[in-house]
Amino acid sequence: MAEPKARLRVFRGTEEAGDFQTYDVETYPGMVVLDAIHDIQAKQSPDLAVRWNCKAGRCGSCSAEINGKPRLLCMTRMSAFPEGEPITVTPMRAFPIIKDLVTDVSWNFEMAKKIPPFKPRPRDADGHWRMQQMDIDRIQEFRKCIECFLCQDVCHVVRDHQKKEVFSGPRFLIHLATLDMHPLDTLDRRDMIKKDFGVGYCNITKCCTEVCPEHITITDNGIIPLKERVADDHYDPVRWLLRKFTGN
Ligand code: SF4
Ligand code: F3S
Ligand code: FES
Repeated sequence: MAEPKARLRVFRGTEEAGDFQTYDVETYPGMVVLDAIHDIQAKQSPDLAVRWNCKAGRCGSCSAEINGKPRLLCMTRMSAFPEGEPITVTPMRAFPIIKDLVTDVSWNFEMAKKIPPFKPRPRDADGHWRMQQMDIDRIQEFRKCIECFLCQDVCHVVRDHQKKEVFSGPRFLIHLATLDMHPLDTLDRRDMIKKDFGVGYCNITKCCTEVCPEHITITDNGIIPLKERVADDHYDPVRWLLRKFTGN
C-alpha cells in the first residue's frame, strides 16, 4: 500500500531573490517537519539549505517558520497539520536570509557580547556562597533557554520596526533578568537595561512567551519584573537627585 503523502511549499533562495518550490513527500507516523526536509534533500533537492544539529529540541539550530509561525523544525510533527493542505516552510523573517531556510543570526551574538558578565560578591569566610533557594528558583527557568531565537523572530519590535540598534529583544532581556535577579551578582545593570538594551520598547504583547519551545514565561517572569526594577531605579527621587547632580 502506498504511504500517505504530504505537500510542502519550501522557500528557496537568498535575501536578494527567491521563490517557493513545491515538494511531495511520503509520510510516516512520528515524522517531524525536519524529517520531511531531509527527505527532500535526499531524494529531490540535495542543495536545499537547512541548519540543524541535534534533532532533539536541544540545540536551537533548526528554527524556521511553519505556516507563518516561528517553530523548531525538529519538534513539529507533520501530523499537527491538516491532511491534504500544503505546509509552508520559510526562514525566520527577522534575520537576513543566507540561503533557503538558513538565516544569519549573528546580530544576536553581537547583542550577547554587549552584556557585562556575572560579577559575584566575594565568598563567605568559610569559602562558600550562600543564597536563598527562592532566589535561585526565580531565575532557574530562564536558564532553560536553548538560544533558538524564535522569540526574537516573533517580537514585532525586532521584526517589524527593525529597532535592532536600540532593542535587544526578549532573549537578551531574560538573560539580563537572570543576571540582575541573581542573589550573588554585584553589578547594577539597570541603567544599561533601559538605555542600551531598550527594555522600554517592549509593550508586553507576550508573543515571545507563546512561541518559546522551552515554555519560559519570558514576559511575566522576566521582562515585566525587569521593567519594574528599572522604573524603581529611574523614578526613585533620591537616585534621581544623585543622577542630576553627579551625572551618573
Ligand atoms: Fe528560544 Fe525561548 Fe530562549 Fe527565546 S527564550 S531563544 S524562544 S528558548
Ligand atoms: Fe516583544 Fe515579547 Fe515584549 S514579543 S514586545 S519582547 S512581550
Ligand atoms: Fe536541534 Fe532542532 S535540530 S533544536
